[in-house]
Amino acid sequence: MTHTFKQSDFERMTYTLLHPLSTKPPQSFEDSFEFGWLRGLAFQGESLLIGRWSKWLSIIDRGELLESDIIPSISFGEGIIKPVQKMLDDCLEIIYQDGRRMEQLLDWIGYSLGIGWFEKPSLSNKAWRRLYETFNINLFWEYPCDVLSQFTQMNGVGGVLDYFPTPMSVTKAMNLMISPKRTDSVYEPCLGAAAMLLPTNSLNLTGTELNLTLVKASSIQAFLYLPWLLYCPVPIMNLHANKEEQRMEKFFVFNSDTRIFCGDSLMGEFVAPAKIFQKSEGRVDVFIRPYDLRKNEAIQYQDQLKNWSNLDRETRFKIVAAQSKEFGFDVTLSNPPFSVKLGKEYKDRIIQLDKSNEEFLKTFQVKQPQIEDILQETLSKKQYVQTSLF
Ligand SMILES: C[S@@+](CC[C@H](N)C(=O)[O-])C[C@H]1O[C@@H](n2cnc3c(N)ncnc32)[C@H](O)[C@@H]1O
Repeated sequence: MTHTFKQSDFERMTYTLLHPLSTKPPQSFEDSFEFGWLRGLAFQGESLLIGRWSKWLSIIDRGELLESDIIPSISFGEGIIKPVQKMLDDCLEIIYQDGRRMEQLLDWIGYSLGIGWFEKPSLSNKAWRRLYETFNINLFWEYPCDVLSQFTQMNGVGGVLDYFPTPMSVTKAMNLMISPKRTDSVYEPCLGAAAMLLPTNSLNLTGTELNLTLVKASSIQAFLYLPWLLYCPVPIMNLHANKEEQRMEKFFVFNSDTRIFCGDSLMGEFVAPAKIFQKSEGRVDVFIRPYDLRKNEAIQYQDQLKNWSNLDRETRFKIVAAQSKEFGFDVTLSNPPFSVKLGKEYKDRIIQLDKSNEEFLKTFQVKQPQIEDILQETLSKKQYVQTSLF
């Protein structure tokens, strides 16, 4: 495919090239053993062919979303488009010949992009070199499609935990029907490879998924098409925070800079890398309305709220961070695992948690149905979340 580029395309490329998240292009094959060796090149390719990363990074750097920020649109094709399919099949063949599985191909791509979910895959030097020569990331932007949903389904993940990705025609129709605004917070609790979120207009996305392989697939797709799902390091005015009132007004997680979390959405307990573009050094816990109320930080800070004006900055920050996870989502979009049955162990755990929650609530001298009231009360006390956060 041939392209004609404009001055503005090169300006976007320069923005990502000079950005601290960019990495130096490899000088030799050996450089490709480094975590993130492909990220800089990928930013350049994406800037020329699409332009979402430079736009998103500039919004983050400004700390504010403006009406005039135009997000480049992407027209996703149905299914996997041929050149992308062929390139991925060739890469998979290399992996199979090396005696490995599809997961190692995802690992190789994610490690090359320097995404914190990924470890260095164990592949022979020969396979690594062949992948280095065969993999072409620019094809994903030349022929945008929901490439990893079907690819993962067909190559080992299909049916696991009831994984059946939704076709692009359906996700497009659902997004058209719901039409989230770009500032609406959108939650996909059974993310899969992020099929449902690809056609979404919102810049405020959160996805959770139980299967780590799919968490990895969705983070690669987010790198390709949804930068705001992969990387959201600070609250942005007019998107997560209210500029005039200087307060948080939408769901936000402070202890991790990604919006893809791995864990059980029914329990609301997840893990994620603290820094998505750093080599993995453990994970942080992220609780989103956890079933286990002892893990709900907003409830635990209840008493301290009464004393807001006497609290130190650090405690105020902790409270704001805890409360920011309690804002409900404007939209939940999903195709959940309809036929998964909860096992006995799971049901027993829920019974145990119900008891434990009841005990826990006694310490607050309230009964369980009142918990929503407590959350509502803490959230409605806007003055409490006004803080010198920004
Ligand atoms: C029918 S698939 C749909 C995937 C995706 N929503 C889509 O539309 O392509 C259901 C997904 O839910 C995930 N899942 C199953 N149980 C889950 C749980 N308890 N918490 C989070 N995700 C879960 C599966 O791994 C699978 O990816």
